[in-house]
This record gives sequence, C-alpha cells and structure tokens, in this order.
Amino acid sequence: MMNVWSGNVEPKPAPVAPWHGDLVDATEAGADGALALADRALALRSGAAPRSCKGRRLAAVFLNPSLRTRTSLVAACDALGVHASVLNPGSDMWRMELRDGVVMDGDAAEHVRDAVGVLSQMHDAVAVRAFASLNDRVADLSDASLTAFRAAADVPVVNLESALYHPLQGLADLATWRRHLGPSLQRRRLTLTWAPHPRALPAAVANQVLLSAAQQGMEVTVAHPEGFDLEPAILGRAQRFAGVSGGAVRVTHDLADAYDGAEVVVAKSWSGVAGYQDRAAEAQRRAAADAWRVTQAHMDRTANAGFMHCLPVRRNVVVDDAVIDGARSWVQETAGLRLWTAMAFLERLFTR
Ligand code: CP
Repeated sequence: MMNVWSGNVEPKPAPVAPWHGDLVDATEAGADGALALADRALALRSGAAPRSCKGRRLAAVFLNPSLRTRTSLVAACDALGVHASVLNPGSDMWRMELRDGVVMDGDAAEHVRDAVGVLSQMHDAVAVRAFASLNDRVADLSDASLTAFRAAADVPVVNLESALYHPLQGLADLATWRRHLGPSLQRRRLTLTWAPHPRALPAAVANQVLLSAAQQGMEVTVAHPEGFDLEPAILGRAQRFAGVSGGAVRVTHDLADAYDGAEVVVAKSWSGVAGYQDRAAEAQRRAAADAWRVTQAHMDRTANAGFMHCLPVRRNVVVDDAVIDGARSWVQETAGLRLWTAMAFLERLFTR
C-alpha cells in the first residue's frame, strides 16, 4: 500500500470569459450542491413533477461517439420541453478546427470560434463531448478542446465528457451511491480499480469518480498496476477534497488490498501519465495485466460490494459476465440514472 502523489502539476486552463454557468466537473456545485442534484434526480425517478423549461434550446456537439450521454440528454430535453440540436462534426456538421492561429487548409472547414459563436446565438446552452488526445499531455491537462468551446461561447457550456472530467456521469454515480449506501457517504469504502482494455483510454471517468467520492468524504482506494498513475494534479485535488470532507484517498498496486473490505467497486481502464511518454510500453503493460480483470473471486474479498462501470464495457476483458450480470451489479441502474441526473441538471441550468 502506498500514498503517492506529488501534486506538482496543476491543470492550467487557458483564460476564458467570465463565469456564465458552465458545467465542467461534477464537484463544482460543492458537496451539498452535488448531493442536492443527485437527490433531485432520485425524486424525479420516483415520480416528482419536472419543472418545465419549455422554449429553451440546447446544442449538443459530439466530437466523439456516445450512447448513454447522447440519449439521456435528448430524452431529458424532451421531458423538460427543451429543443435539442445534436450535431456530429465531420458527418452532419462541418469538421471543426479547435486550435487558434492555424492555417485551415486541412480537413476542418470551420473554426470553433465561428461555429460556437453561431450556436450561441441560436441556443441557450452549448454542450460538448471532447475526449483527451492521449498524445499531448499539456493540452489534455488544460482540457484544451472544452476550453476552446468555453472561450468561444456566449452561453453556458456543458461538459459531456472532456479530457479531464465527466460530470453528468459523476452525478449518476453519486445518485447510485446515495441510493445504495444511505444518506451519509462519510467514510464509506469505495475502490476505483484500473481494468485491462485492448486500447489506451482517457481518465476522465476515473478522475470524476475519485473527485466526487473524495468530496463526499468517502474512503477512496485507487488501485492500479505500476505504470498507470493518474495525473498528480487530480490526485492532489482529491486529497484536498478529502482533507475538507473528512474522507481519505490512497493508492495501491496490490490487488488483494484493492478489494478487501470495499463497499463499492468502480472499474475503469485508463492509460495513465506514463502513457504519454511511450505508448508502445504502455500497451505492453496493459497486455500483461489480465489479473486486474474484475472477477467474482476479486469481488468475494469485498464487503458485499456493489459493482459499477460507466459503460460501454468490454465483457470478459474488463469484467467477467458473472460480475456484471450478478446480483450486486449496479451498472444498469447507474446507466438509467443518467436520464434523471441530466433532467435534474438541465432544470437547474434553465430555471436558475
Ligand atoms: N458512460 C457514458 O458516458 O456512455 P457513452 O460514452 O455511451 O455516452
């Protein structure tokens, strides 16, 4: 067991316009604010009447694929009377250039400043999915694509998963913890475990789980093989949250230690900081780490933990069928909560 970080690198987002209601990260509403949104989502799921947002318009731009985020957002808009324009650059919308000052003689026909400037005039908010590049650590640490949207928009920008964070997934995770662990999450034991995957993946979901759990005072174990460290800046933020909330954050590279006594197990693959330096070496490390697949034998070490994964998931690579289909799997419930948390968030955005 180790406590590791050297919070020496802070994300440095580029300067953006004054705050106008953006959603970047699920923790920014504060611990109580996030809980209030999660509880509102659970109330909506139980039949509470939604507040009408009729006449509002949302543009959702997907630079990367999505099933849950896209459909939950559209269904939530439908339920609230919000018009949703869903746009896919490169297919039903011009391919976009996100960098400033480049000669646009390649595939991108439109600059983000121009596109988002137009979308801002026709919508009350702009949402965007823009994953990490995984080849430029500085750009990913500054959440460069999301930052470009925020700088170009005159209306609130909603993060639908960026290089660093996945706030609407984070709210659904929080609602799931709330429902299964009761009114207080203080000192409840959550393990965020790395899992094998055939491809290098970003860490936005893992970062969000870590930060949200630490903010709520949970005892968080981040478990991964050597060489898959999360960004020290994110671990440092989580540590600071834990310092305020009374929670705890630790890192382990020991599989047995990872699972022992956990009440919640969240699995996710991520490529880690070292992946930026040598992608081939990272692929080799991933290929050699099948022992980290979530199996029933691992889950049997826990305190009857619930199993969570944000989906999509590679069955029998990340997690065995027996676990994800088992009685302690909360995976489908969390995915279903994406609708209700999106509604709770959009209500707040459009009726505040
Ligand atoms: N969990 C999640 O964000 O799913 P999608 O990538 O399908 O939106």
